[in-house]
Amino acid sequence: MSTAPAPASGAQAAPEAGAPAPARATPRSPLGPSFDSVTPVPAAAPAPAPAVRIDGVSKRFGSGPVVLEDVSLDIAPGEFVCLLGASGCGKSTLLNLIAGLTEPTSGRISVTADRPALMFQEPALLPWLTAAGNVELALRARGIGRAERRTEAERLLRVVNLAGQGGKRVHELSGGMRQRVALARSLAQDSSVLLMDEPFAALDAITRDVLHQELTRVWTEQRLSVVFVTHNVREAARLGQRVVLLGSRPGRVVREWRVDIPQPRTIESPGVSALAAEITRELHEEIRRHAQ
Ligand SMILES: Nc1ncnc2c1ncn2[C@@H]1O[C@H](COP(=O)(O)OP(=O)(O)OP(=O)(O)O)[C@@H](O)[C@H]1O
Ligand SMILES: [Mg+2]
Repeated sequence: MSTAPAPASGAQAAPEAGAPAPARATPRSPLGPSFDSVTPVPAAAPAPAPAVRIDGVSKRFGSGPVVLEDVSLDIAPGEFVCLLGASGCGKSTLLNLIAGLTEPTSGRISVTADRPALMFQEPALLPWLTAAGNVELALRARGIGRAERRTEAERLLRVVNLAGQGGKRVHELSGGMRQRVALARSLAQDSSVLLMDEPFAALDAITRDVLHQELTRVWTEQRLSVVFVTHNVREAARLGQRVVLLGSRPGRVVREWRVDIPQPRTIESPGVSALAAEITRELHEEIRRHAQ
């Protein structure tokens, strides 16, 4: 069976013999010509600029060894990317480079957000402030007035399921609650790019599971671009739309997986387990290669 090649977009149909020639449209608008060359149809939208573009980035601290070598990675707007790799391979360094906390030795990084929000393993809350006070501090840094700060902090605490807990001091909060406050504080920065460095690594499995659900919900609702660093292969397969494996010494992209399993997923779902097993094999191989 042969199929005729599809006409290229914007191709014009030949007029039938004897038929009056169609009026020539000369569209000078963002609308492209239609097949009858009369009715304008919307032109294909250009691909949106990546939220984060890492282009041939290498990093070396002083005269030390090369930590990252020629790393290139685009993160699309609204995409959730997990970075995996052995300890010391340069994951945090890459995150810090995206955050602008350190400069690449060579290559370029561009981020669409003015200031990406950062969240670390330790919540680093100010102990003399309440949960709400910690969130309000980030709002204050954005120049938001006192009355609006209060309402907005309450809203953000609701987003992370801490409604009514804003008056608690840090020592009165559990580890999971502290990480939720830290997430609310990151969201208070109102950035479209959220960078997370092993934010749930210190939590027990059940609390981590609950926070995975919260984070997936917040990401879906707010269409954030997330770069999530983790050691935990299952966590990466549970959360990411894409999982990027970094190799060691020097750190570079070894492989990546696109994860098409629909959200909400659970850490036990068969697709997540199968992918995690495959990634773990590759990770072990990578670690073995470098142990030789
Ligand atoms: N400010 C710094 N000055 C010198 N060396 C550094 C600095 N920051 C990181 N390094 C080195 O860069 C390498 C990568 O460190 P990095 O913290 O990025 O690794 P990682 O992949 O995040 O590890 P982990 O999984 O243990 O958190 C390490 O060898 C580390 O010693
Ligand atoms: Mg790290």
